[in-house]
Amino acid sequence: MITTDFIAAAFQARYGSTPDFISRAPGRVNLIGEHTDYNDGFVLPLGIPHSTWIAFKRRNDGAVNLHSLDFNQTESFSLSEFARGTGWIEYAKGVAWTLREQGFALSGFDGVVKTDVPIGAGLSSSAAIELATLNAFAALSDLAIEPMRKATLAQRAEREWVGMNCGMMDQMISAMGKKGNALFLDCRSLDHRYVPLPSDAVIVVMDTGTRRELKDSRYNERRAECEAAAKFFGKASLRDVSLDECNRSALSDTLKRRARHVISENARALKVANDVSTDSRAIGTLLNESHQSLRDDFEVSSPALDAMVEMAQQTDGCYGARMTGAGFAGCAIALVEKGCEAAFIRQVGARYQVATSLSPSFFVVEASDGAEVFEAR
Ligand code: GLA
Repeated sequence: MITTDFIAAAFQARYGSTPDFISRAPGRVNLIGEHTDYNDGFVLPLGIPHSTWIAFKRRNDGAVNLHSLDFNQTESFSLSEFARGTGWIEYAKGVAWTLREQGFALSGFDGVVKTDVPIGAGLSSSAAIELATLNAFAALSDLAIEPMRKATLAQRAEREWVGMNCGMMDQMISAMGKKGNALFLDCRSLDHRYVPLPSDAVIVVMDTGTRRELKDSRYNERRAECEAAAKFFGKASLRDVSLDECNRSALSDTLKRRARHVISENARALKVANDVSTDSRAIGTLLNESHQSLRDDFEVSSPALDAMVEMAQQTDGCYGARMTGAGFAGCAIALVEKGCEAAFIRQVGARYQVATSLSPSFFVVEASDGAEVFEAR
């Protein structure tokens, strides 16, 4: 795990002085409610300990210089002139651009960034760097911005600068995570509450060892399909369509399956949050149903994700499993009986490796706090 001391020492080594502040923002896993956020629906994510960290010090010339320890690369941009480029720096630049667009006065900085959120794995590495950067600007310029507003600003950066037409879930949980809890969020009203997780189970993240480029993926296509389906029903979003209405409609087969996923997934997320939030067995069943729906109706799984999820579901101590995040590659999660996780990881890992020749990795996550800033000592 990355620590404040580690990132402060990296800053010192690079710039020969101590940083002013340190910012940390977590990645996330989504327990249930997948591809529902951009349909005005319900999500139940949790922040994970894996986070992006930035140590930074003010500059007075409007320049932002950020060195990534992960890519061993220094990138720079100016706050007075924004030009699109490529790579990881676009997330930070997009946040600066959005804040400026909204009229915030910003200071530049020298910074060092490091993450232990696996990149492109469905764990929101992009929301983590967005929130960590946003908090860096907020700390240096004394901007009082509510966590929810921070999340919508970061989401805007990703949509309008990076070009990934994402929903709000990832930025919301990175901004608002709470130790020990999942966040139940109504993406239409923004009503939310914290939901304690079952005490007899742990969440195992299962990284298939496969990766995707989110903005190049079929994500934006799925979003457009959902919008087309809602339009067919004459509704603002699929949130307003019932399963019955969907099944009886003359919608094309593909759009009907997309809509059916969103409608049934909203019902599952509501059920977990409202009725069975401490019942691991019941949650597990809903996770399995969610995976099936994402695989068959929404078609955002992959052979590697399916193999991992099936093997998990067949292993002792597993209540249920499903892919998490946008899909197409990356990570799945399993809800596993407390005490069984070590044997579970050993068995699933061995079977998966033999079946796919890929190198998986596994970690147990505890729900962690959202983005925060520390004054460097
Ligand atoms: C990505 C997006 C989110 C959400 C998920 C799927 O993580 O950034 O907004 O749509 O996919 O649930």
